[in-house]
Parts: sequence; C-alpha cells; structure tokens
Amino acid sequence: MTVPSRTGAARPLTVVTGGGRGIGAAISRRLGAAGHDLVLTYLRDAAAAASVAAELRAAGAAVLVEQLDTTDEQAVARVFARAREVGALTGLVNNAGAATAVGPLVDNPLDAVRRDLDVNLFGVVACCRSAIPEMARGGAIVNISSAAATLGSPGTYVHYAAAKAGVEALTVGLAKELGPRGIRVNAVAPGTVRSGFHRDPDRPARVAATVPLGRAGEPEEIAGAVAWLLSDDARYATGTTVRVAGGL
Ligand SMILES: NC(=O)c1ccc[n+]([C@@H]2O[C@H](COP(=O)([O-])OP(=O)(O)OC[C@H]3O[C@@H](n4cnc5c(N)ncnc54)[C@H](OP(=O)(O)O)[C@@H]3O)[C@@H](O)[C@H]2O)c1
Repeated sequence: MTVPSRTGAARPLTVVTGGGRGIGAAISRRLGAAGHDLVLTYLRDAAAAASVAAELRAAGAAVLVEQLDTTDEQAVARVFARAREVGALTGLVNNAGAATAVGPLVDNPLDAVRRDLDVNLFGVVACCRSAIPEMARGGAIVNISSAAATLGSPGTYVHYAAAKAGVEALTVGLAKELGPRGIRVNAVAPGTVRSGFHRDPDRPARVAATVPLGRAGEPEEIAGAVAWLLSDDARYATGTTVRVAGGL
C-alpha cells in the first residue's frame, strides 16, 4: 500500500486493475499523462506497480497502489472503499486478466479453466459492481476484452475466449443499465499484444504472419483506445467494443 501524494478535486480518478505490467502499465501511463489520478492494483508484482506509480507521481498524479485478486469480492470491495481516500471515482479499467490453461479444452485441468473464467469474467463483474455506487456523479468503465471473444481461440483457450465474450455481453447490458445514471460502459478488444501474458514468449512473433498489419501489437497501441473511451471526446459512446487487433 502506498499513500497518495495529493488529491486533485477536478482531476478524474480511475482504478486500473493489473495496472503495473503489460497493457495495464501502458494504460496507467497514458491516463497519468492525460491528467488522471489513479488507483493501480497488482496481483503479485508489487515492484512493477510501485515503479509505474513512482513515475506517475513524479509527473504530478496522486496514485494509490493496492494488492488485489479481482476474484476475491471482499478484497475488491475494500479496494474501492480505499479509493475514496484519493477522491471521487470517475473511471474503472477492468484490465486484469490471465490465461493459465492453454491448449485444447479436453487437455486442460478444470480447476485451471475455472480459475481463468473467474479472473477474466467474475473479476470484471465484481469490480463493476463495487465501482458503480462510487460513481454517483457519473463515470466511465472500460473492460479489456480480446479479439478471442469473436475468434474463439480453438486449440489455445476457448474458455478464455468465452469469458471475454461474456465481458462484451456485460459491456452491452451494463451500458444500457447505467446510461440513465450517467455511467458509460465500453470495451477494448486487443489482438495479440507483446506482454508477459503469453506462456510462450515467442507467440506474438509467431502469429504476426496471420495478422493483416503483419505484426503483434504493443501495449501503448491499446492504451490510446482506452484513454479515448474514458475521455469526454467519447461522451456519446457507450455499449461498444473497440477492436484494436491489427485487422484480425
Ligand atoms: N497480451 C495479449 O495478447 C492480449 C490480447 C487480448 C487481450 N488481452 C487482455 O489484456 C489484459 C492485460 O493483459 P496483458 O497482456 O497486459 O497481460 P500481463 O502482462 O500478463 O498482465 C496481466 C495483469 O493482470 C494482473 N492480474 C492477473 N491475474 C489477476 C488477478 N486474479 N487479480 C488481479 N490482477 C490480476 C497481473 O498482476 P501482476 O502484475 O501482479 O502479475 C498483471 O498486472 C488482460 O485482460 C488480457 O486478457 C491481452
């Protein structure tokens, strides 16, 4: 836990789950540059989250760092309560995700499959549920889905793809449910992006040939779409999924 450096009443305050590494770190940096105060959560890599937070604080943002397993609903509730110490919540980026079971479904142990479903779908539901009451004056939620939600990821992780499809359905439904309360809900669906997500680190390079733009994406290329969806420029956008997948 790190105490925030200051509170800025007029600044947006956004929770980024898994905000210390990979796509989440790029989102945190991008939002920090756009003037957000941040609550960054991490699961295991405290050092990475602390390093991103130090960078953002040096640039003037108030940043709270919290350890959080998004599948633990009580821990989720605690983190959103702690966020009140920084200010009024305006944004949530449900970025935390993982695919630990990789391969054809029949070869994957069910406990690993269940864990992936929990992290990639239940965790997003739990964070939305805790964030909504904190957004009394409106806000915006961005859920990180995946191109897998529509491609299905056969032979790799169909259960993960199904969870991400669930995230996109949640995005549509919650957008309708929360529109009248001034809360927008959107998703970003990345294609293959270079990060620590891949059990096989060569995977992004290998899939490049199948991508119309000829390469894997970079975390920063996802962050821009997230920042736009959270910004006032996207004030009429809700219930949509922005695909940032190089043409896949
Ligand atoms: N990379 C891709 O090709 C790709 C493509 C499509 C979608 N996505 C999605 O993009 C998002 C970010 O992935 P990434 O590529 O940046 O992966 P990553 O580098 O592996 O980072 C995943 C992040 O999620 C956190 N995390 C994992 N399990 C968690 C849990 N149970 N509770 C809380 N936090 C948890 C990790 O925390 P620690 O730092 O503490 O480990 C880490 O910060 C995920 O939702 C992923 O499904 C990725």
